[in-house]
Amino acid sequence: MIFYFSGTGNSLYAAQRLYESDGGELIDMAGALNEKRVKYKLSEGEKVGIVFPVYFYGLPTIVAEFMDSLTIESDTDPFIYTVITCGGSIGHADKMIADKLKQKNLQLNSAFSIKMPSNYVIMYDVPDKEKQDLTLQDAEKQIEKIVGFLEVNKKGNFVSNRGYFALLSPIAYKLYGTYRKTKKFYVTDACTSCGLCEEICPSGTIQLSSGKPEWVTEKCSHCSACINRCPARAIQYGDATKKRGRYINPNVEFS
Ligand SMILES: Cc1cc2nc3c(=O)[nH]c(=O)nc-3n(C[C@H](O)[C@H](O)[C@H](O)COP(=O)(O)O)c2cc1C
Repeated sequence: MIFYFSGTGNSLYAAQRLYESDGGELIDMAGALNEKRVKYKLSEGEKVGIVFPVYFYGLPTIVAEFMDSLTIESDTDPFIYTVITCGGSIGHADKMIADKLKQKNLQLNSAFSIKMPSNYVIMYDVPDKEKQDLTLQDAEKQIEKIVGFLEVNKKGNFVSNRGYFALLSPIAYKLYGTYRKTKKFYVTDACTSCGLCEEICPSGTIQLSSGKPEWVTEKCSHCSACINRCPARAIQYGDATKKRGRYINPNVEFS
């Protein structure tokens, strides 16, 4: 069973690749949380994977909420792993997952990180195409390695993108709480009213009003799916994103 969260496809791609090798079920944490599908029974020997992007060196709000609500039923201690995608460093996100599991008397058995292109266009520009391709090629090798480790239920912490400032993770993560506001999102005249932003927003923050998106809650997860995946490039966040690129993982098919 693989639980995943993804705004722009990096973590979805990783989850799909692990699913190809391990099978089971692929469960979108955002959808499951919205529908209150938070209780799962494992079959014998079934592994649990938790795959998501790091946000501010910690957990996206949706992942934190899902982990808090999750109940796992199993006759034996399950093998649980996490795979965290990042633009550079995951800080202490793996430890946050381990803590959430511990509160349920479950143990995180192995942890991995994968560097993938950064999608946080609200804060930085996306890497150029050449860099994206190189990063994705490296990510592919990393995924293959993780698949091999998981085939033999290898236990341990294999995080290779911790980052120089990992010790500052709690401070960085606090910033997420104040930074993830929606006030600066807006749509330009390029909007075609296709409604994709409303459809894909994992926190139900976007609602179409007279055909145009409105961000109806004060805060959201800042997953950046709306801004990156808008086919008309009509969504902006203040002035910062006007000249920046957009990113979607090129190898993934969104359902
Ligand atoms: C709100 C937000 C915060 C982020 N914070 C970090 C971070 O602390 N460290 C990092 O390396 N990448 C960070 N990123 C980049 C993403 O973790 C990275 O691009 C990830 O692979 C995106 O996954 P996805 O395509 O599955 O959404 C952040 C992205 C967003 C949207």
